[in-house]
Amino acid sequence: MSKPIIETHQLTKQYGEFTAVNNLELSINEGEIVGFLGPNGAGKTTTLLMLMGLSVPTSGTATVGGYDVVEESKQVRQIAGMMPEGSGYYEDLTARQNLQYIGQLNDIPKDEVDNRIDELLEAVDLVKWADTKVEKFSRGMKQRLGISEVLIKQPKIAFFDEPTLGLDPKSTKELRDILLKLNKEQGLTIFLSSHLLHEVQQTCQRVLIIRRGKLVAADTIANLSNNLLSKDMSSIEFELTEIDSDLIQKLNDVSGVKSVEQQNHKLFVNLENGNVREVSETITKHGSIILLMKPRTFSLEEIFLDYYKED
Ligand SMILES: Nc1ncnc2c1ncn2[C@@H]1O[C@H](COP(=O)(O)OP(=O)(O)OP(=O)(O)O)[C@@H](O)[C@H]1O
Ligand SMILES: [Mg+2]
Repeated sequence: MSKPIIETHQLTKQYGEFTAVNNLELSINEGEIVGFLGPNGAGKTTTLLMLMGLSVPTSGTATVGGYDVVEESKQVRQIAGMMPEGSGYYEDLTARQNLQYIGQLNDIPKDEVDNRIDELLEAVDLVKWADTKVEKFSRGMKQRLGISEVLIKQPKIAFFDEPTLGLDPKSTKELRDILLKLNKEQGLTIFLSSHLLHEVQQTCQRVLIIRRGKLVAADTIANLSNNLLSKDMSSIEFELTEIDSDLIQKLNDVSGVKSVEQQNHKLFVNLENGNVREVSETITKHGSIILLMKPRTFSLEEIFLDYYKED
């Protein structure tokens, strides 16, 4: 059993009357990559700031690496790094100078920083740009520099607040590959707040969904997908050569079929204790060819929107 590296208990942050984070219960294991999802204003950044010991909770507790985020915030910041929303770097310094400066701010001995810089820039593919001023960097390069700034103190845990905001698909993938590599090779625990569901789906082992400051889901995408179907219900996805209203009608008449949804060339047949054989035979008899048939899985986007359907 891995042990939790981040734990919160009834963690709450209020701004006056407004509750930005509401009784958050979190448990994150060492080495996990966790996605933190929620729309604008849900409380993601507020949570990250509290976990970094940079914002004091109104009530509740949190430990990071076993350290209390209030009483031992300095130790927390020694083992945890955070890449904030919109990175902090100095445009008129080079990549190397930025890292030296961050090292200084974190009280890391200069020799140690200098020894680490090449390796860090290598990890984020900026070796060639080490001595170029950041003002010449593209957005993707700046974000990669931001990652190396987080890594300079060799953290056990890294918090990323929307690291891929404004990046093109290629830079997004590069950044994702860097994070996955750091997790795999160094066992870095990654807490990734993002609006890009596709991105999270491809990176994270587990997702947390926050809604108006409250945690509404914490599970693997596969489990959350299963939860979208109520008990005793199953949903089969079909890809067919031909779909027409006559076929949909016939399928609706099969016993156990609760509903049939069409999405372009796909059909989703929702069954309660249903007879899958009769469904596929109905399709074949109608003259359509089954190109694909499998249990339906939901994308993270569908899962996410389901939690927000009442908003
Ligand atoms: N310093 C503050 N004073 C008052 N209200 C604040 C403060 N910081 C955040 N809030 C409010 O708390 C709520 C949560 O904000 P937070 O920045 O944590 O959201 P978020 O999930 O990070 O959103 P986004 O996706 O837009 O970054 C928002 O309604 C915000 O207006
Ligand atoms: Mg935010």
